[in-house]
Amino acid sequence: MESLLIHGGKRLEGTLRVDGAKNAALPILAASVLTENTVHLYDVPDILDVRRMADILSMLGCRTHWHGHELTVSGHSMCSSEMPDALSKQIRSSIFLLGPILSRFRRATVTYPGGCEIGLRPIDLHLSGLRALGVDVREEGGVIHCDGVNMHAGEVHLDYPSVGATENVIMAAMCLAGTTTIHNAAREPEIVDLCRFLTAMGGRIHGAGSATIQVDGVKRLHGADYTPMPDRIVAGTLLCAGAITGGCVELTNAPVDDMHAICAKLREMGCAICEAGDTICLQAPQRLNAFPILQTQPHPGFPTDMQAQMLALLSVAEGTGVIVENVFENRFTHAGDLNRMGARIICSGRTAIVRGVESLTGAHVTARDLRGGAALTLAGLVAQGETVVEHAELIDRGYEHFERQLCLLGADVTRKHTTA
Ligand code: EPZ
Repeated sequence: MESLLIHGGKRLEGTLRVDGAKNAALPILAASVLTENTVHLYDVPDILDVRRMADILSMLGCRTHWHGHELTVSGHSMCSSEMPDALSKQIRSSIFLLGPILSRFRRATVTYPGGCEIGLRPIDLHLSGLRALGVDVREEGGVIHCDGVNMHAGEVHLDYPSVGATENVIMAAMCLAGTTTIHNAAREPEIVDLCRFLTAMGGRIHGAGSATIQVDGVKRLHGADYTPMPDRIVAGTLLCAGAITGGCVELTNAPVDDMHAICAKLREMGCAICEAGDTICLQAPQRLNAFPILQTQPHPGFPTDMQAQMLALLSVAEGTGVIVENVFENRFTHAGDLNRMGARIICSGRTAIVRGVESLTGAHVTARDLRGGAALTLAGLVAQGETVVEHAELIDRGYEHFERQLCLLGADVTRKHTTA
């Protein structure tokens, strides 16, 4: 088990470069199997979920090769349409392979990716989207058998703008003759990035980033060289590290245009933020002010993946604020541990009411999910004394050497490996 030991009280200051985005790299990796040619990806975050996705591609017969942050994928030797059960259960994003495998082989067998701490994570929207394209979906015993022999372009209406379902349907439709239209599509920047990559492979897509996306099927896709967009959630988390410690953090290679909702909330808390090109700089106030309310929403609303971090900031802000988590049903797993550090958070269903306190006290806390673990680490940066965040391997799913990045900004964070 991995733990982070944090000695709080340091004001964070400095400049960091933002790396490639986990939630862009994962669907782009899945899309790499849409061609038999080779794909070269650059600035790929070397994090657990990406490593696991690459392992799944290897188990499907693809050749993958890491060289630093460059990842090469060759789908030529791909020979299986059956997702490996164990690995599929480890990462939710394995379900993103359903569309590409169907496009390639016209059949696919996957197991339910399983839920996680933040919610049940159903895949009904993925399956209904594929059925609208003529895929015959049979579920038995936790295994999903898909027959795509009669797949065709068509109209898909998503009941909810699901990011993964939108990505799956786009990828499934890339080589279907005719035009596929997706209504109520998700508008996240990572979808726009996936569509940029698919276009680089020879795909024809219109409306990415809007609620209606059209895919004009092509005969085949070719290889491409591509650099996924920078990670807006990692960038937002690092800005929060500066904000919670009264510091000054500058980020380069930041996806500034995709961070307006995050920066608006940080400005509402009293932070001064300036943007120039792909550089963003945050100067925190001596003490943050509580915002009255924050509601998570699909893009371009406030991103759910930044909710936990903002709850940590609100815990030490002046005043009382409310956070409503509209996207996932159980995404306040970090509130209990924040309260153990002295926060005053009352949760009821999807709502958290927070009365800011002057200071937090270090404690032994446990990461229960990726962003909750990051939030507890942020709280440790400002808590008096030592905070130990256990199960930090969950943080490693989405942050590459999180403690190293924080130390470069002046934090006192060390990693401890303990045999569980
Ligand atoms: C993606 O997950 C991200 N993961 C998540 O990031 C992110 O929180 C989420 O989008 C929302 O922005 C990746 O891109 C790898 P959804 P995804 O389908 O696609 C419900 C992180 O911390 N739903 O948009 O799984 C679902 O239960 C992770 O980096 C259905 O009901 O999210 C949830 O309540 C966490 N049926 C809501 O929709 C479905 O078939 C949003 O889910 C699919 C989803």
